[in-house]
Amino acid sequence: MIAHPKLSVLKSSMEILQHFTETKNPTSHFISLEGIEACGKSTHITGLKDYFLKKGFAVTIVREPGGTIFGEQLRQAILSSQFPIPPIAEAYLFASSRAQLLAEKILPLLSQDRQIVICDRFIDSSISYQGVARNLGVATILDIHKYPPLNVLPHFTFYVKINLETSFRRQELRNSKKDYFEAEKVDFYKKIIEGYEQAAQLFPQRIKTIDGEQEVSLVFGQIIKHLQHINWPHKL
Ligand code: TYD
Repeated sequence: MIAHPKLSVLKSSMEILQHFTETKNPTSHFISLEGIEACGKSTHITGLKDYFLKKGFAVTIVREPGGTIFGEQLRQAILSSQFPIPPIAEAYLFASSRAQLLAEKILPLLSQDRQIVICDRFIDSSISYQGVARNLGVATILDIHKYPPLNVLPHFTFYVKINLETSFRRQELRNSKKDYFEAEKVDFYKKIIEGYEQAAQLFPQRIKTIDGEQEVSLVFGQIIKHLQHINWPHKL
């Protein structure tokens, strides 16, 4: 069963949401992809890049944590940590990488014409992993993002939803060394999924949930369908 955000969380979240702001250039767009481990984000990011290049946009792909030299150092520190990191420290570390990425890359790009920035994970990962799975609370995560440059949200987010069994099966097939989060157990992943459901309820316009259980081309087809239904302020 999907857990709904408590009314008090929703209320405080709504207040915090007023602090979020829009980017100024209407010809440029910021898109993020989200989902649990092995949901297939990377494949669809490549597909999206080709799609927008064909439409005559310049496309930049970035990832979180990371995407800048400082951010990649933080990524290394977090994902290969040998010691448990207190949840609040995790939240601030991811936010630090995000702030750097926004200031150094995303915002300068979005101020130019016909740019598409595609980010592999963004604020919704913090809402799900730190806010819900690590029990910090969604409002805590939103609160951290009140301050510039963190108060910028993607224009569109695709949450590629798969179930736990699919995630674990695909992770087994990859057979690579598990990082800090991949080593977590089933209950943690259940909470992440719950966190994404909460994020999707908080941001129904922005977050589009995609059924990631289908065959790759069908999953990508769902993403394209959403893009085709968007009322773009310019010729696509
Ligand atoms: P990564 O190897 O990029 O995972 P994936 O390929 O599944 O995207 O590692 C990023 C990990 O960091 C992933 O487990 C999710 C986690 N994460 C958070 O917990 N909070 C965040 O805000 C972000 C951006 C990532």
